Amino acid sequence: MRSFLGRDILSLRDWERSDFFRLFEVADELAPIAKSRRNTDLLANKTLLTAFYQPSTRTRLSTEAAMHRLGGHVLGFSDAKMTRAGDFYQESIKDTFHMLEFYGDVIAIRHHQQGAPHEAAKWSSVPIINCGDGWGEHPTQVLTDLYTLHHELGTIDGLHFMCVGDGRMRTMHSIGYALTQFDCDLTLVFPPDMNVTEEFKEELRARNLRLRECKSTEEAIADADVIYMEPVVQADYTKARVEATEDKGLTPPEYQVTRELLRDKAKRDAIILHSLPRMDELPADVDETRHARYWQEAFCGVVVRMALLSLVLGAIE
Ligand code: CP
Repeated sequence: MRSFLGRDILSLRDWERSDFFRLFEVADELAPIAKSRRNTDLLANKTLLTAFYQPSTRTRLSTEAAMHRLGGHVLGFSDAKMTRAGDFYQESIKDTFHMLEFYGDVIAIRHHQQGAPHEAAKWSSVPIINCGDGWGEHPTQVLTDLYTLHHELGTIDGLHFMCVGDGRMRTMHSIGYALTQFDCDLTLVFPPDMNVTEEFKEELRARNLRLRECKSTEEAIADADVIYMEPVVQADYTKARVEATEDKGLTPPEYQVTRELLRDKAKRDAIILHSLPRMDELPADVDETRHARYWQEAFCGVVVRMALLSLVLGAIE
């Protein structure tokens, strides 16, 4: 098995099946700490630096919460406007990360520019964790999603995933890569102008992932064990920040999952995962159904990041 020590977590493209299971094993070991709301001293001598160039609620705070649970230190920025990268100087990733590597032992970065974490990793000798890069990837979110399934169902093999929403989203790339390491079927329900590229689909098929496309959730939902959602009423992820407008529009029914659709067409034990935030693709009354698992993801997100930090910093081999 490959060691995680010092590893950059930039993409799930290069993750092997054994990597996922080792992470889940460590997450299972650490979960009781988070569940009992305790802090330990496993990473007492380590510092996490968070460099967030794009807004975040879950990813930054759960990564920081994970470090606190492990007794480590946390510093960073959540708005690049307060740094030299966001003012007159527009300081480069190279210059910024040449500095930051001396301020922390691991760096979690979110950036609107696809590939920014990869560029940061070139100039940092401490591990870089990609917390979302433009439309690129969102590895820690998908590790959270998969751990939630492992936790809830005890397996990922054998599941049929229906991915619905904006196919350009970074989670959709990471989940596609991750599922190539499991025995899964994948149905894509993406608007034509928000689809993944043909190259990406070809790459997944070449890695033996069974992939098909459908036009609506109504057409695809009966086969789905896992309903994996993103909005189609969506911000532009290549921008540092997108302000709210009055006329965001509504989600067409083809890309919605409603309580009625679940009642009439879904498998009785289908599970809904959503990385959040949501718009009207997933109405709030679905929260009261047995299918919702996105609040469990909030807990699993802390646990997975505890496991990842412990592994890349070598506290657990
Ligand atoms: N799931 C997710 O990435 O949420 P945030 O944008 O709030 O971090």
